[in-house]
Amino acid sequence: MPVHMNDERGIMILTGAGISAESGLATFRGPGGLWEGHRVEDVCTPEALAADPALVHRFYDLRRDALNDVTPNAAHEALARLDAAWAGELLIVTQNVDDLHERAGAKRLLHMHGELRSALCASCDERAPWPDPLPPGTSCAACGAPAMRPDIVFFGEMPYQMEAIEAALSRCDLFVSIGTSGAVYPAAGFVQLARRYGAETLELNLEPSAGSDWFDDSRFGPASVLVPAWVDALLAA
Ligand code: APR
Repeated sequence: MPVHMNDERGIMILTGAGISAESGLATFRGPGGLWEGHRVEDVCTPEALAADPALVHRFYDLRRDALNDVTPNAAHEALARLDAAWAGELLIVTQNVDDLHERAGAKRLLHMHGELRSALCASCDERAPWPDPLPPGTSCAACGAPAMRPDIVFFGEMPYQMEAIEAALSRCDLFVSIGTSGAVYPAAGFVQLARRYGAETLELNLEPSAGSDWFDDSRFGPASVLVPAWVDALLAA
């Protein structure tokens, strides 16, 4: 079923690693998804951080360094264009910890799984920019505890901004999922929530995902092609 929007209704967009793949950042579950032989599920956990903080910090230091070598692609740019042009409600919720959406110019954006360029104090929740590698045990500027950690939501931790996300899901008329495998909850369940709240649902992904059956319309191909085409059609409608 084609999605037509002839007025400026509410749109919620969920993005995953697939939108950054063509910028050169590896996805989690595709080729290159392993890191030094570890599955992300074994590195990105509170238990791993407690047991081997140097390993976990190194994982994120390498990923943050990789941001210097990549730029937003046509899909990030198209979403930023839509954000700037759309008079109705719009929210981009990304599972990605890279900064390519904001570098493309997106403003109405939430990072539900955290950000590579941010550090979080595990003791007082203070945040600080994290431009350079920091050794485990770095002190918090606010409370002094030697507890700065990557500002990343690990497996087993609750994603950020869930109240704002649920509010947007409950109000949106169109829910769009881009470049995510649908393997990790709660994001994987947003399509079901959006449907229950009455939204139309559209998936743009390289291949069928775990949740494809939930979508009214699924289009398969590279994000750099599908997303600009969808945005152009929406803005022209
Ligand atoms: N264009 C569109 N989709 C693509 C492209 C592309 N060029 N390349 C890959 N994809 C699709 C893949 O087919 C896959 O369905 O993107 C999806 C990426 O899936 P994952 O690697 O599982 O990434 P994601 O869904 O974002 O992972 C969710 O898991 O490890 C955690 O916290 C991490 O946020 C992450 C979460």
